[in-house]
Amino acid sequence: TPARTFYDEVGGAETFRRLTAVFYREVARDEVLRPLYPEEDLGPAERRMRMFLEQYWGGPRTYSDERGHPRLRMRHNPFRVGPIERDAWLRCMHTAIASIDDDTLDAPHRQALIDYMEMAAQSMMNSPI
Ligand code: HEM
Repeated sequence: TPARTFYDEVGGAETFRRLTAVFYREVARDEVLRPLYPEEDLGPAERRMRMFLEQYWGGPRTYSDERGHPRLRMRHNPFRVGPIERDAWLRCMHTAIASIDDDTLDAPHRQALIDYMEMAAQSMMNSPI
């Protein structure tokens, strides 16, 4: 049997569904981020983020089956990601992570998720302002 992954340990699909649902609920009401999203419907963006995170943490590889190599920095080139956008993105993500209960996400798993998101948001920056 395959090794148990982080994805399994934190509750699998249901946890990533809840995480991205809260994240995009926050994006929808964020005045910095909302204008960056080209589509009226945030549903497709939410699904891409969910698939990416599930794959990154050892879940199904649907993201790459549909989208190929993530190349996330390249995919963010059309949008200016400076410190204001980074901080807005992280605020939404921290709210999303905080919404997951302690039974689902214990302290070490919670910290691993936070550390990754902070690193990823930092590395997505493509503008000093
Ligand atoms: C796509 C903004 C950071 C993962 C997008 C899109 C925008 C955006 C506007 C296009 C929406 C769409 O998919 O239709 C930002 C901003 C960030 C940020 C302002 C600030 C730091 C991140 C980070 C990650 C991430 C840190 C991963 C941990 C993704 C993914 C997509 C995406 C997976 C879809 C890529 C695809 O087309 O397959 N982002 N993003 N983003 N973002 Fe971000």
